[in-house]
This record gives sequence, structure tokens and C-alpha cells, in this order.
Amino acid sequence: MKILVINGANLNMLGIREPDLYGHTTYNDLCDLILEHALSRGVEVELYQSNHEGDLVDKIQQAYGNTEGIVINPGAYTHTSVAILDALKAVSIPAVEVHISDVDAREEFRKISYVRLACCATISGRGVQGYLDAIDLLIERAQA
Ligand code: DQA
Repeated sequence: MKILVINGANLNMLGIREPDLYGHTTYNDLCDLILEHALSRGVEVELYQSNHEGDLVDKIQQAYGNTEGIVINPGAYTHTSVAILDALKAVSIPAVEVHISDVDAREEFRKISYVRLACCATISGRGVQGYLDAIDLLIERAQA
């Protein structure tokens, strides 16, 4: 099973940006944690991060036909991007939305998620553990 883990805008700044909200784990640390977890679960993982909405759309489209699950934290594009929503709908790959912080407990605008409409689950507020839980969820779903 192959899972694509996509991180959007500003997630390359993890560990530096607002550590009170997002913690001290860097993006590279996060990648290591995900790769280690994927290895222990026997799944293949591809990691991708971009600050550009169109690049995220391209990456989702490229997953068509070769990927069985997507874990996606679009960053701020969560709350604005119909294009990312449409890309997820277009490829129809089971997707889990992840947020490090608890978006529903923050500003009103963060309670709106377009991508959620194309995801089978949302994991929010569990820190970087949320990515690992999302991988487990996709594995369970594939085995069901
Ligand atoms: C985030 C929450 C978003 O509202 C924010 O714009 C981010 C990170 C999170 O992981 O908690 O960039 O997706």
C-alpha cells in the first residue's frame, strides 16, 4: 500500500513557527517520524510539501492510479481552497485531513474546511501524532 503525505503552506516552518501552537518538532523530524511509522506498519510513504496551491493540486492529480491513500494538511489552504477540494474529489483516493492544532478551538475562519468535504476523516489537535494516526486509519480502512 502506498500513502502520500502532503503538507501545504508554512508547514516547512514547523519547529520555528508559533511553537506554542505547533510544537517544537521540525518538518524534517516530522518526515522521520512518518517514515519510521510507515516502515513499522509495512506501508510505503511518499512525503511532499509545498507552499503553492497549484503544486498541491498537481501532486494530488499525479497520485491518481498509483496511490491508495492520502494524508493531507493543507495549512491555511484548508480554509480557502476549492481547487484542492476538487483535486481530491477528482482522484477519489481515500484521504484524511490532519491539523496539528485544534482548528475548531481557534479563530472562526479556521472552523471552515473545504478539503474536509472530500476526506473520510479529520484528525485535529493531536500534534504530529495526528499524521501517524491518519496513516493507521487509512491502513484500517483499506483492510476493512
Ligand atoms: C494547520 C491549521 C491551519 O489553520 C493553519 O493555517 C496551518 C496549520 C494545523 O496543522 O494546525 O498552517 O493546518
